[in-house]
Amino acid sequence: MDRGMDWSTFFRTGLEPVQAYQPGLREEQIRQIAKTDTIYKLSSNESPLPPFPSARAALHGALESLSEYPDGSSHQLTQLLSWHYGIPFDQITIGNGSNELIDLIALTCLEPGDNVVYGWPSFIVYRSSAQITGAEYREVPLTAGGSFDIAALLAAIDERTKIVYLCTPNNPTGGVVSDDDLKEFLDRVPGHVLVVVDAAYEEFIDGRQAARPLAYFDGQRPYVVLRTFSKMYALAGLRCGYGFAPSIVVEMLNKVREPFNVNTLAQVAACACLEDVDERERRHALNVEGRTRLQACFERLGLRYHSSQANFVWVEVSDAAATFDALLKRGIIVRPFPGASGLRVGVGDAEGVAATVAAFEAIFDTPAL
Ligand SMILES: Cc1ncc(COP(=O)(O)O)c(C=O)c1O
Repeated sequence: MDRGMDWSTFFRTGLEPVQAYQPGLREEQIRQIAKTDTIYKLSSNESPLPPFPSARAALHGALESLSEYPDGSSHQLTQLLSWHYGIPFDQITIGNGSNELIDLIALTCLEPGDNVVYGWPSFIVYRSSAQITGAEYREVPLTAGGSFDIAALLAAIDERTKIVYLCTPNNPTGGVVSDDDLKEFLDRVPGHVLVVVDAAYEEFIDGRQAARPLAYFDGQRPYVVLRTFSKMYALAGLRCGYGFAPSIVVEMLNKVREPFNVNTLAQVAACACLEDVDERERRHALNVEGRTRLQACFERLGLRYHSSQANFVWVEVSDAAATFDALLKRGIIVRPFPGASGLRVGVGDAEGVAATVAAFEAIFDTPAL
């Protein structure tokens, strides 16, 4: 390939500021750095547990059908979600992860000159999907508790605002929008704005004050709720997310999406585990227990953290890069954020939490890092 060639004319100029996703360290790289064979990957908000037994059993049975294309309408899964949540079939959309749904909504709704509004720090795809479409993005600081600031979001909206995202619980801080705040927000948000609530971590909530976004879904107003099988349901590798939206929105997304966007195994596994209430409750309890232990450890060590309702905890440290390295040497992989004075620490299984607590204690009981 002629590297001396001027490639700039081939590409959309709007893509220039877009940052490609930076994958974390590969396992063999981690093994070289870590001074232990036991590695706990707590950096991507994945489940520390394998997929539900019901999903694993269903996946074996589905292998034979992989010579065929998937069901392009994800019919069975849509029907099951419709029944499970009591939402009409035509108000449900399925995506190759909820990430795809965020991208599709942006591609469907945004034009250059439009803007989107959301709290920051939050999920990077709200920004990248706006950049790809040439829309402006307005990032509004979070509240002191690490959740979206409803009043500030409302103040950032203008007549060119097309989408406001609410991420609750928020990634990376774990803070939630309260039910009162969501209600007030929906009362006050102008009618020309599509409100997209990203509830990827909703299954981990245990607080009573937290908003349950689906309670406000009526299939009429410009209001979308996104969920995923990647987190609580431990199917991140298969890619399956879903959204509730007015049927006109679902129709428009269908024009933009790839015909076979959700693979067969994802559909089969999602159907198999959606109704597995016992397993979900067991995992919910395990996460609450682990999260509580992590937060108690940060408290003991005098580290500031955000009280989390998700499967991760944001902790403030004076030197994030050095703390990241010190944890990595002990086999604990967490998520740093460039320029931020904290780290996002995933809640592992019981053993992973114990190892994380031991590592933090070893690092922060020693005065110099
Ligand atoms: C807030 C939030 N939304 C959406 C996603 C996308 O999840 P998925 O595409 O796996 O459904 C993530 C993944 O980390 C997330 O943190």
